[in-house]
Amino acid sequence: MTRFIGKLSAAGLLAVTLFVGAARAGDEGKCTIATKPDTETGRACAKGGRAEAKKEMKLMVKKAKANGQKFTCDGCHKDLDTYALTKNAQDDYKKLVAAQTK
Ligand code: HEC
Repeated sequence: MTRFIGKLSAAGLLAVTLFVGAARAGDEGKCTIATKPDTETGRACAKGGRAEAKKEMKLMVKKAKANGQKFTCDGCHKDLDTYALTKNAQDDYKKLVAAQTK
């Protein structure tokens, strides 16, 4: 029984930490573009909102770079306030995903 309670509060603490992390995000709150969890970014959004998505996108760009492909945030996003996508963003995203392997 005690062990069960221990596990339970650990899970609760984790949930609180995640929640606080998301709420404190500089890039306030929820994603408005990557709203479906069928991309890496969408999954990150579901997990921790824009802050997490930003982290994930940075990581993806970094990995692609390590694989010899250069991407920049503003190549796909018109600005980094709304993260509005450029015309080529969806197509380039596929290339970015493809550049993750290795
Ligand atoms: C190759 C194109 C591409 C690059 C480069 C790129 N992004 Fe993205 N980004 C996208 C696409 C496409 C989406 C939407 C994904 C979806 O719909 O699941 C997105 C979504 C996001 C979101 C979620 C926005 C929301 O409100 O839903 C954030 C935050 C973000 N990108 C930040 C960044 C940052 C920071 C960088 C630079 C490190 C970056 N992105 C580089 C294509 C790109």
